[in-house]
Amino acid sequence: MIKKGIILSGGMGTRMSPLTKAVNKQLLPIYDKPLIFYPLSILMLAKIKDILIIVNKGQLEQYKKLIPNGKKLGIKINYIEQNKPRGLPDAFILGQSFIKNNKVAMILGDNFFYGQSLSKMLNTCTNIKNGAKVILHKVLNPEKFGVAKVKNKKIITIKEKPKKFISDLAITGLYFFDNQVVKFAKELKPSKRNELEIVDLLNKYKKRKNLSAEYIGRGGAWLDTGSIEDFYKTSNFVSAIENQQGFKIACLEEISLNNKWIKKKQIKDAIKFYGNCDYSKYLEKVIS
Ligand code: DAU
Repeated sequence: MIKKGIILSGGMGTRMSPLTKAVNKQLLPIYDKPLIFYPLSILMLAKIKDILIIVNKGQLEQYKKLIPNGKKLGIKINYIEQNKPRGLPDAFILGQSFIKNNKVAMILGDNFFYGQSLSKMLNTCTNIKNGAKVILHKVLNPEKFGVAKVKNKKIITIKEKPKKFISDLAITGLYFFDNQVVKFAKELKPSKRNELEIVDLLNKYKKRKNLSAEYIGRGGAWLDTGSIEDFYKTSNFVSAIENQQGFKIACLEEISLNNKWIKKKQIKDAIKFYGNCDYSKYLEKVIS
């Protein structure tokens, strides 16, 4: 079982400037919650309780105001600063002392997942024995993402933002790795855009025939909130689902309670912490 998870939540946020000049992108709202709640909820649904959040320099205090250490959620949260966006695999170099000799999951702070069989799929992923696993999802604009070409269920090519079409299966920002990831990440050389590339890291597993994939089918949603347009699209999606069903997406305390990591008492404390707001009213419903 994978028991440790990293949320890569730094970056310059240049594509969303001036919104992100003073505040880290992942602290901005997706409808009724900060964006960071959504990837955090995914790790919690994967039953991962030991989490490292990597933030950009200068944002640590802001994050801690929102999620001090995870105690209130029955989980453990550590923070570390990344002083420069050196690329996604940098997470495993910065996180080496957190990962130790364990396997690890990583989710990008700006990725949104939703769907009925998500928990089941997450369970399959956290059960990997060795190698690496990626989650693929069909998209109309593969040139914006890392993509994988698959034949007979096997990944045969992976490429970052290919200009020429090779496949419409995007590699989403949720990855599962065995412990070799730290060693492999350290071996990588920066690319032409001067970043360590996640596809180079995944290719090391592919070369060793140790890269597998799960799929989010038509019934599931994956949205990358990379641009302002995508941000509002995701916000509208959450608003539509929540206001139709009455359930909240990514209510962290509700997930903890369902996982039996906290009791009603902690939910009452959370209500006090958040104050008089819709989120608190929802928490009251959860425990009534
Ligand atoms: O969203 C899925 C895509 O994410 C994948 O399909 C691509 O293969 C992968 O490279 C990545 O592409 P993006 O262009 O979306 O990556 P971006 O540079 O926007 O970074 C994603 C998140 O990670 C964002 O919230 C900022 C954070 N980040 C990024 C880098 C490079 C960091 O915290 N540190 C970094 O060094």
